[in-house]
Amino acid sequence: MFGIKTKLKKIFRSKFIHNISNNGKISDLMSVFQADEYGHECNTKKADLGYGWIHYGLIRQQKPKNVLCIGSRYGFVPAVLTQACKDNEFGHVDFVDAGFDLDDKGGWTGVGYWKTEKGRNCFNSFGLGSYITLFVTTTLKFSKRFPNRTYDYIYIDGDHSFDGVVLDFKLFIPMLNKGGYIVFHDICVKGNKSEGEYGVWKLWNKLEKEFKGIKINYVGSGLGIVQK
Ligand SMILES: C[S@@+](CC[C@H](N)C(=O)[O-])C[C@H]1O[C@@H](n2cnc3c(N)ncnc32)[C@H](O)[C@@H]1O
Repeated sequence: MFGIKTKLKKIFRSKFIHNISNNGKISDLMSVFQADEYGHECNTKKADLGYGWIHYGLIRQQKPKNVLCIGSRYGFVPAVLTQACKDNEFGHVDFVDAGFDLDDKGGWTGVGYWKTEKGRNCFNSFGLGSYITLFVTTTLKFSKRFPNRTYDYIYIDGDHSFDGVVLDFKLFIPMLNKGGYIVFHDICVKGNKSEGEYGVWKLWNKLEKEFKGIKINYVGSGLGIVQK
């Protein structure tokens, strides 16, 4: 895990960073996929990906063959993961979201976007379509349908209840290859909100010790990274 900072430095030499000054591609991506500036500590006007830098940098450096992304409102993180694979000219993202809407219990602020035609086509429209596959289903159904898939990078941002995130961890940690990363969003969020009682922090407390995890930020949403 000591290597992560060194690895992240490499992003400054990447094509993607270069593109900021050339054509504002980062800001375009953030606008199209409606980056949540609070949740990911990012800033669209300044082409600042926030936590997206971590995902992008790790994927550019690690060059994973298979990436799994769980949960997104309008596609910001799946788009960053996919852009990184595209810039690597290697790797594919499986993106799983049940497409829950604000009215759905257990939707965790989902907006039903993945059940719409616009949502289904958004990655194609941005030139990322051949590097990502969208599965509008629950994580449980996905894992049952594809029990033999393996991944090198897994991002979890779906069911934020304690039981829900524990389930996702149990479903997907066996699919993570040795040396691969599993990354959790919202590890700092606590309390009962209109969408439910947040519990990622409780699982994170255990994983941080067991896997010597890295915690990005101690305030706000928080991002937690462990390496298998
Ligand atoms: C909206 S995201 C959280 C917001 C996210 N941090 C962002 O920046 O976009 C949570 C998503 O997880 C999805 N979700 C919740 N439980 C799920 C499950 N069991 N399986 C698959 N997707 C799930 C919801 O449909 C929702 O779109």
